[in-house]
Amino acid sequence: MKRSHRCNELSATHVGQSVRLIGWIQSIRDHGGLLFVDLRDREGITQIVFDPKLEKFSDVHSLRDESVIEIHGTVSKRPIETINARLATGEIEILAEELIIHNICDPLPFPMEDARAEQVNEDLRLTYRYLDLRRKSSYQRLLLRHIAARTARNYLDEKGFLEIELPYLFKTTPEGAREFLVPSRLNPGAAYALAQSPQQYKQMLMVAGIERYYSLARCFRDEDLRADRQPEFTQIDLEMSFIDREDVYNLIEGMLSRIWKNTLDVDLKTPFIRMPFEGAMNDYGSDKPDTRFEMKIQDFTDTFRSSSFKVFAQSVAEDGVVKAFNAKSLVCLSQGEMKQLEDAARAMGAKGLAFIKAEDDQWKSPILKFLSEIEREQLRIKLNIEEGDIVFFAAGKWENSCNILGRVRLECRDMAIKHGVLSIPSDTFNFLWVVDFPLMTFDGEQNRYVATHHPFTAPVPEDLDILTSQPHAVRGQHYDIVLNGMELGGGSIRIHRPDVQEKVFKDILKIESDVVDSRFGYMLRAFKYGAPPHGGIALGLDRIAAIICGTSSIRDVVAFPKTQRGQDLMSQSPSIPTEKQMRDLFIKSAIVRK
Ligand code: AMO
Ligand code: AMP
Repeated sequence: MKRSHRCNELSATHVGQSVRLIGWIQSIRDHGGLLFVDLRDREGITQIVFDPKLEKFSDVHSLRDESVIEIHGTVSKRPIETINARLATGEIEILAEELIIHNICDPLPFPMEDARAEQVNEDLRLTYRYLDLRRKSSYQRLLLRHIAARTARNYLDEKGFLEIELPYLFKTTPEGAREFLVPSRLNPGAAYALAQSPQQYKQMLMVAGIERYYSLARCFRDEDLRADRQPEFTQIDLEMSFIDREDVYNLIEGMLSRIWKNTLDVDLKTPFIRMPFEGAMNDYGSDKPDTRFEMKIQDFTDTFRSSSFKVFAQSVAEDGVVKAFNAKSLVCLSQGEMKQLEDAARAMGAKGLAFIKAEDDQWKSPILKFLSEIEREQLRIKLNIEEGDIVFFAAGKWENSCNILGRVRLECRDMAIKHGVLSIPSDTFNFLWVVDFPLMTFDGEQNRYVATHHPFTAPVPEDLDILTSQPHAVRGQHYDIVLNGMELGGGSIRIHRPDVQEKVFKDILKIESDVVDSRFGYMLRAFKYGAPPHGGIALGLDRIAAIICGTSSIRDVVAFPKTQRGQDLMSQSPSIPTEKQMRDLFIKSAIVRK
């Protein structure tokens, strides 16, 4: 079954040679006397010519697309008028002398050409994922992902990192994403959790003196799924001792530059911009700002402090803010689109979405009558309001107002592209670091502080003194790397002193002492045995691959992804376990839902 050539290899220089090719039938064309088959393998396509009148080819008519065949034949130059310049092998064809049929393909559930396949319902493609992956564009994506992963490995190896595999079966930890539980047969009633990330283990490796660790780690989170989230995904995960934030930035900028060079042949400009969390929120309404387009948010809190527009004035009086941004040239939005924007704002907790349109040489707005001349002038100047623009407002608590306008801004981006008033070249890669996050965020629902990133992040040294007195004002040594509005990765310098870590758990996060002891006791103990200062980061490999491949869904770069409901439609998992399996795991009964 050994082939002599790949299907992309043969050219005019091979004419007259005997060859053996093996692959899938891309298409069959019956030209009266002769039958032409495009034979495809991973690398390319070669045209095969059969003479069906020959006895040995009598069953050639039974072949269907995507069947697997092997042919032996002679390379022949194509007649001039049939040369296909678009094909690497377009100058030649193979005159078949022997045909071996390895597998006949059933009628296909969907067309396999990229353009048509991509129109097909995704669930159907996921059910037949092996066919979907056989398409050229799928292969290209897996190839690019492979190159990205290989580049990361080689780069980290060069920099002295050890690749170390860490356990997936871990213990459950509060303070993180919802976890998948794995009941233990050998420990009745107990369960592991599938690791959300190797965070705690990699820190233990630093205590163990490894100094530089990395792995391409699978992580498991039982979250609500979206285009950029899978229940299991891969991190380029690393940890280092004796470093500061700058070392991490340099290392990662170097790694991403190498990945972009090797996959897209693009030279990234380093260093990347560093943007404080507060500035990102103020200007872009997001902790992962998309800076590829303007529509920056401006603050009008002072403008409306004593406004006669009560909604704004009252927000300011209640310690809130008034913010607005100019959606340039978007006055053309339809009523439906305006409704969509308002719904988006409401979904983020807004009571409404105030706006002003600059249209027909005048301003039109339900709130215009409440605005003084001075207020209008300040808006006009700061937002550069011109004919054709539309301005959106949010008033209320700072973080909430930022988030609302941030969300509306992104919707406006998509609408502006649709209306042709904004275009973002596909080779724009706006990397940036978001830094100076607050260490803790107050969670109104739980009425306590929660770690903004995770509870192992170190406070910035200058803020250590106010750790317990003003937890809200403490900045963390946390950093996120963001690309075109997507969070690619995050990490931090960690706490390595047991007293500080204990204070964070008990005094700030208010985790009960016995819970701290049972969940994190081993860490606190380890930190008493010579823990080096350390820090690290994890980058989402799936997200990196998706951006490199120019797709918005990470499902496209995962070989066997799960649907929104967390199902693998091909193998039909998850599935109901047997009674015996359940008994063995000491699980009493399962609620079986249809
Ligand atoms: P974090 O939770 O920010 O940090 O995750 C790091 C990166 O992993 C990717 N990611 C995901 N990708 C696909 N599907 C998901 N459900 C998903 N969740 C996260 C993102 C994200 O930026 N242990 C820390 C890192 C550290 O502190 O070193 C951690 O896991 O790209
Ligand atoms: P979001 O703003 O909800 O899209 O989340 C942004 C990022 O925060 C995601 O990429 C995740 O990496 C991270 N994240 C969100 N929720 C959790 C969680 N429960 N645990 C850990 N990381 C999370």
